[in-house]
Parts: sequence; C-alpha cells; structure tokens
Amino acid sequence: MKTAVYPGSFDPVTFGHLDIIDRALKIFDHVIVAVARNSEKNSLFSVQERVELLSKILEDRPRAKVETFDGLLVDFVRKRGASVTIRGLRAVSDFEFEFQMAQMNRSITKEVETLFMMTSVPYSYLSSSVVKEVSSLNGPVDNLVPPLVKAALDAKFRGK
Ligand code: PNS
Repeated sequence: MKTAVYPGSFDPVTFGHLDIIDRALKIFDHVIVAVARNSEKNSLFSVQERVELLSKILEDRPRAKVETFDGLLVDFVRKRGASVTIRGLRAVSDFEFEFQMAQMNRSITKEVETLFMMTSVPYSYLSSSVVKEVSSLNGPVDNLVPPLVKAALDAKFRGK
C-alpha cells in the first residue's frame, strides 16, 4: 500500500488542489491531505473550517483522507508510515520556495522524498490568496473553487 502526504494550508481548498489530489490518487493507493496547524496565523478560515470543507469535498474519494499536523512535515509523514510528500508546482515563482523546502526536508531526513506535480494549465494562475482577494471584492470565483467553498467565502465576506 503506497501512501503519499499532500501538505498545505488549504485556506481555502481550490480546484488547483483538487486537481493535484485526483492525479496523486492515480499514482498512490492513499493520499493524506495534511492541513498545517501552524498556518492558522493570518488565515481566513480556521483549521477546523478548512478540514470540514476538505472532508466534505473529498467525501466521494474514499482513498483520500484529511488530517492536520503540527511540527515538522517530515515527522508527520514518517509517523503515517509514508515516504512521499507531494507538492504542486505552478509557475517559476513557486520554484524557489519549493526548492528550499524540499532541500530542507531532505537535509532533515533522506527517508522522505518530495514529489512535484506540475499544476494543470487551467489552474496555473490559481492560488488560495487570489481566490480570497477576488471573493473579498465580490468577484466571480465559480471557476476556481467548489460551490461549498464559494458559499463559505460568501459567508465570511458578506455574511450570506
Ligand atoms: O500551502 P502552503 O502554505 O504552501 O504549505 C506550506 C507547508 C504547510 C507545507 C509548509 O510550511 C510546511 O511543511 N510546514 C511544516 C513545518 C516544516 O516542516 N518546516 C520545515 C520545512 S521548510
């Protein structure tokens, strides 16, 4: 059984994240979507809200499981008996941060490999931050996030 961990802030989950999860499920038996607890600062959604959104959206994908983690990502990956962590790569701008993180994780342990997946073209410009900004200005996000997330954004920004 091959398990991969897909970590992130997911504040909130977008179609870009779901694309990576679906593609990862074609390679791995199980994918643990791991919401970082230390990403609570300056976030729009609490960790609990993010987990609830992800869990509902991934309900029909039984091989995907949502969890939270504290501390070092590589420690969480090892505790789950996994050896691969997945990260999506968009444009060149992602590379520096991702390179640093992958090298740092590798310097902590050689037991965990980082696997990068290129984001599908329609989502190459998409980020949770852009979604939050557009939604906060009452712009359209229907093509960027699932309806459940759109409703949660409306509730946050417009109390709907
Ligand atoms: O969605 P994000 O915000 O780009 O995710 C970043 C995340 C949560 C994957 C990263 O910050 C992380 O792994 N944090 C856990 C702490 C850790 O392991 N740090 C050492 C590697 S730099």
